Amino acid sequence: MAIRVWIALFICTFALLGLTPHASESESKEFVVTLDHSNFSDFVGQHKFIVVEFYAPWCGHCKKLAPEFEKAAQVLSQNDPPIFLAKVDANEEANKVLASEFEIRGFPTIKILRYGGSVVQDYKGPREADGIVSYVKKQSGPASAEIKSSEDADAVIDVNKINIVGVFPEFSGEKFENFTALAERLRADYDFGHTSDAKLLPRGDSSVSGPVVRLFKPFDELFIDFQEFDVDALAKLVEEATIPTVTVFNKDPNNHPFVIKFFNSPNAKAMLFVNFNSDLIDTFKSKYHEVAKQYKSSDISFLIGDVEASQGAFQYFGLKEDQVPLIIIQKNDGEKYLKPNVEPDHIASWVKEFKDGKVKPFKKSEPTPEVNSEPVKVVVADSFQDMVFNSGKNVLLEFYAPWCGHCKQLAPILDEVAASFENDADVMIAKIDATANDIPQGTFEVQGYPTLYFKSASGKISPYQGERTKEGFIDYIQKNRDKAAEQGPGKDEL
Ligand SMILES: *[C@@H]1O[C@H](CO)[C@@H](O)[C@H](O)[C@H]1NC(C)=O
Ligand SMILES: *[C@@H]1O[C@H](CO)[C@@H](O)[C@H](O)[C@H]1NC(C)=O
Repeated sequence: MAIRVWIALFICTFALLGLTPHASESESKEFVVTLDHSNFSDFVGQHKFIVVEFYAPWCGHCKKLAPEFEKAAQVLSQNDPPIFLAKVDANEEANKVLASEFEIRGFPTIKILRYGGSVVQDYKGPREADGIVSYVKKQSGPASAEIKSSEDADAVIDVNKINIVGVFPEFSGEKFENFTALAERLRADYDFGHTSDAKLLPRGDSSVSGPVVRLFKPFDELFIDFQEFDVDALAKLVEEATIPTVTVFNKDPNNHPFVIKFFNSPNAKAMLFVNFNSDLIDTFKSKYHEVAKQYKSSDISFLIGDVEASQGAFQYFGLKEDQVPLIIIQKNDGEKYLKPNVEPDHIASWVKEFKDGKVKPFKKSEPTPEVNSEPVKVVVADSFQDMVFNSGKNVLLEFYAPWCGHCKQLAPILDEVAASFENDADVMIAKIDATANDIPQGTFEVQGYPTLYFKSASGKISPYQGERTKEGFIDYIQKNRDKAAEQGPGKDEL
């Protein structure tokens, strides 16, 4: 779950927020083709190229996409030959098998299906009508476009993106075929071109006649030449070359794909958050870059983020503006390490300390309340150990979110339950704001709110799945509590 939430938090801050009311449905002909389990294979099987959106009726981003997708479908229906956009309601019970075949995990997910569905690729293009049209047109054409003139070169090579161009003396032979196969495989991710004239290309030795594969990128060394033509080996080189030494996160959507790549990597993730308008920014960038280069082939990936674009991340990690500039590393197991108010010259030594296991993990926590006298006790990450694990009490613990409606409905019920145990020192009813506090890893599974757990006095932990009524809770607690008769300091208070 974590990875999705992160990406959403990062990306949402600039791309997906903003609740535009969506256009009212018109009664006229729909250009987007509706498919379901009964006719999906038939329809897809008849087409060499088709784009399918998997959506859910309740999903906000799907509603936003719908009018744009429809507009694009109308334009593309005029193409020669017509190109079809289709949609599947993946929330519909009968279509769920179909959705799982395509490994749909979020909405909307758009797939490109080629050759009757035998080749499936993720749609990685824009989500407004014009962008959809041009991306889809490109995807439906040849995987690699021939570059014959400087106009062609301008059309194929966008300097803000990754582009891969094969230089060949002639467009035939095994190496050219392998290049074309690579283009077919990776075309949804990058734009491909081929030319016999390296002088048309924006960078690199213009006297080469090939065969050579030149990759252009908007960061680091700006271009790389490969002379590898084994498809798998070349794909691997491309994959490595397209990960920036330092991923930049700001409001520029061109950086977007790299941010997603960063979060999908299995590495530990180092993130430096700085104000990009600060005087020190260039010093930060160059020092950080040096460190990143030093660890390039290790298991840490590096990102630098502009504080202004990073509210989502700050909330997620429980960071505060007065800690900026800060560096935070999150390991794969979820542990986090924080260096607030870092100076450019201290980055290298701190990352080394982290590598050497000398930095203590950091926990997101609200402050421990000074007064905690309400019937339902407030637990925070810093007091979790003492109040829940080591208290020797039977604890019913609610993980809640401040914005969650079901949690608000539950609150008066928990108050009543707590009141009824007020004179029972062996039982505690407690709550923790799971959005503002880190939860101990591995022990509690909190996927939604509210989530309730019961920990008996002797330490047995189980999710509460009973009825959420006063009687239900009391009954459960009485049945599952440990009679802490012989143990615990609470005894004499009875
Ligand atoms: C597929 O079936 C659904 C449900 O019966 C229908 O609404 C849709 O128009 C059909 N699509 C095609 C292309 O036949
Ligand atoms: C072309 O690709 C195939 C399969 O990946 C590989 O076996 C072959 O050696 C490649 N040819 C060249 C010239 O690299």
